[in-house]
Amino acid sequence: MRERLVIAIDGPAGAGKSTIAKKIAKILKLEYIDTGAMYRALTLKAIEEGVDPEDTEAILELIGSTSIYFKDNHIYLDGTRVDEEIRQNIVSRNVSKIAKIKEVREKMVELQRELAKSGSVIMDGRDIGTVVLPDANYKFFVTASVEERARRRYKELIESNQKVTYDQVLSQIKERDRIDSTREISPLQKSPDAYEIDTTNKTIEQCVDEIVDIIEGR
Ligand code: DC
Repeated sequence: MRERLVIAIDGPAGAGKSTIAKKIAKILKLEYIDTGAMYRALTLKAIEEGVDPEDTEAILELIGSTSIYFKDNHIYLDGTRVDEEIRQNIVSRNVSKIAKIKEVREKMVELQRELAKSGSVIMDGRDIGTVVLPDANYKFFVTASVEERARRRYKELIESNQKVTYDQVLSQIKERDRIDSTREISPLQKSPDAYEIDTTNKTIEQCVDEIVDIIEGR
């Protein structure tokens, strides 16, 4: 029997990480953990409760009374399934502000390590290979040009009937990149031992094949 397999996938917003990670999870029979969804769930709660995402003290109080967990590949916030709600544009626009709070990250990293303990997993995020699972068996850094990432996000948002323009999405992604990669704690960074996968001119299938080939040593 194969030993426990731990795979870390990091990269900026809209690079295709989660689509790729879900497919690899299926092919290699791993549990998929979307860590961005955890930060999004806390952001959703802040928005619902009218807490300012930049009010660190209030956010810390909120996290103390919040439960976030996955069950059967769905994310639950205080017992309610919130897969769709966390994808709203208002959550995307605010999540980086919450994800840069040191204590929020410490709490999330603790939960994420706990989730990765039991079996073979593929975890996607920004700091998985660098901070959360530095001993992962394989690390991938998935990127794409900012214009291509904005095109993909725009398409997703339009398909889910949200009112945005391409230029708005492009500037939001640039702003999110800026906050995610310049924050003091665990900025978005390629781990030196990660394989870089640029998805700009490739199909998802090509990227998945490339990653599976690396893992299977082909
Ligand atoms: O992958 P995503 O777009 O759903 O992530 C949402 C936000 O959460 C993103 O702006 C950065 C933050 N994030 C993080 O800081 N660390 C992670 N491990 C995952 C996400």
